[in-house]
Amino acid sequence: MKKLVLFSIIAFGGLVFMNFSRVENQTINPQNNKYEVPENVQAIIDRSCFGCHNSDSKNEKGKKKLSWDLMKKGYKTHKIIAKLGEIEEVLQKNEMPPEKFLAKYPDKKLSDDERNIMIKWAQEMTKKMSE
Ligand code: HEC
Repeated sequence: MKKLVLFSIIAFGGLVFMNFSRVENQTINPQNNKYEVPENVQAIIDRSCFGCHNSDSKNEKGKKKLSWDLMKKGYKTHKIIAKLGEIEEVLQKNEMPPEKFLAKYPDKKLSDDERNIMIKWAQEMTKKMSE
C-alpha cells in the first residue's frame, strides 16, 4: 500500500512537471502569457503561412498584415486578438494561402482537418486572451 501511494505521488509529480515544462515552451509573449501555439498548429503555420508572414519576409504586403513572430513577441494583446480574428476569417473563407501561390505550391494547401484545427485554435485563443 505504501509503495502504491509513493508510486502515485511520483507519477503525479511527473505529470505536473511535464505540463509545466510544456507551458513554458509555448509561453513566449512577455505582455500576455496566455498566447500559446500547440505543436500541431505550429506545424501548419510553418508549412503554409510563415514564409510570407514574418518580420523578415520579402512579401511586403503579407508581412505588414501579419507577422507570426510578432504574435509571440511584439504585438500588444489587443493586436493579437484582432489578428486572431482576421486569421479565423481568412481560414473560414479559404482565402489563405493565396490561390496563386497554391497553384505553384499545391502541397502548402490546408486540408479541411487542418483548417478546422486552426480555426478552433484561433477561436479558443481569442477567448483566452480576452479574459
Ligand atoms: C504566398 C504568400 C502568403 C502565404 C503563404 C500566406 N499569406 Fe496571408 N497574406 C498574404 C498577402 C500578400 C496578404 C495581403 C493581402 C491583401 O492585402 O490583399 C495576406 C493577408 C493575410 C491576412 C490579413 C487579411 C486581412 O483581413 O487583411 C491574414 C490574417 C493572413 N494573410 C493569414 C494567413 C494564414 C493563416 C496563412 C496560412 C494558412 C497565410 N496567410 C498564408 C500572403 C500570404
